[in-house]
Amino acid sequence: TPEAGRVVFENVTFGFPGAEKPVIKNVSFAAEPGKTTAIIGSTGAGKTVLLNLALRLYDPQQGSITVDGAPVSELTRDQLADTLSLVPQRPYMFSGTIGSNLRFGRTAATDEELWEALRVAQGEDFVRERELGLDEPVSQGGTSVSGGQRQRLSIARALVSKPKVYLFDDSFSALDVATDARLRAALPSATQGATTIIVAQRVSTITDADQILVIEGGEIVGRGTHDELLGSNEVYQEIVRS
Ligand code: GTP
Ligand code: MG
Repeated sequence: TPEAGRVVFENVTFGFPGAEKPVIKNVSFAAEPGKTTAIIGSTGAGKTVLLNLALRLYDPQQGSITVDGAPVSELTRDQLADTLSLVPQRPYMFSGTIGSNLRFGRTAATDEELWEALRVAQGEDFVRERELGLDEPVSQGGTSVSGGQRQRLSIARALVSKPKVYLFDDSFSALDVATDARLRAALPSATQGATTIIVAQRVSTITDADQILVIEGGEIVGRGTHDELLGSNEVYQEIVRS
């Protein structure tokens, strides 16, 4: 359907229980299938909370969030997990192997599919260098892999699950600029047709995005393409300068 993977926030307001002020204020946007929506803003602006709302880690006090035209509040955890894949800001590994961490319960994925996901996520080389490759043990918390490697494994894990919606929470900041660039060059064909929402720190990560949302204090204070925002939005100009 044309709605497949479309994520819509409508006048969403959310505050943590007991907190005085909402951390998300009247946020509305649509993230379209086949397109990349980027979210940028300073630390504490509410970027992670926005992604978590789409995954229904919490429910908004006001407004609605729909995926595929259906309110997320009517979807089960399993339906949500099948539709949206989050690459979290602090990726986690569980005790097992590199392969089992990439499959993450999706036993049907073949080794070839895992290698293909690793190739896109720029993780192929360091896994091939391990003596046991995909069968290399990983400890709980992933202490045997570096932060940047963990991020790439976490991106590969999302690719293996082939969701309609990708949520990348600051997934590229631990990568050096060259790896970041290679990964982003490889991503579009691998995620073709899916809805991509990318939270970013670096402007260079999102200059190609179809739509950029600038968020400050839980509110959208600017939206447009890189060029549009560069010419018109003071908050964005400040982020670009910093
Ligand atoms: P960075 O990841 O640092 O770039 O920030 P962010 O934009 O992702 O901010 P985030 O969405 O994590 O937080 C938005 C606001 O919600 C901040 O003021 C946080 O302090 C607050 N917040 C986040 N998580 C919680 C929580 O579990 N409980 C409470 N009470 N507040 C929270
Ligand atoms: Mg965050």
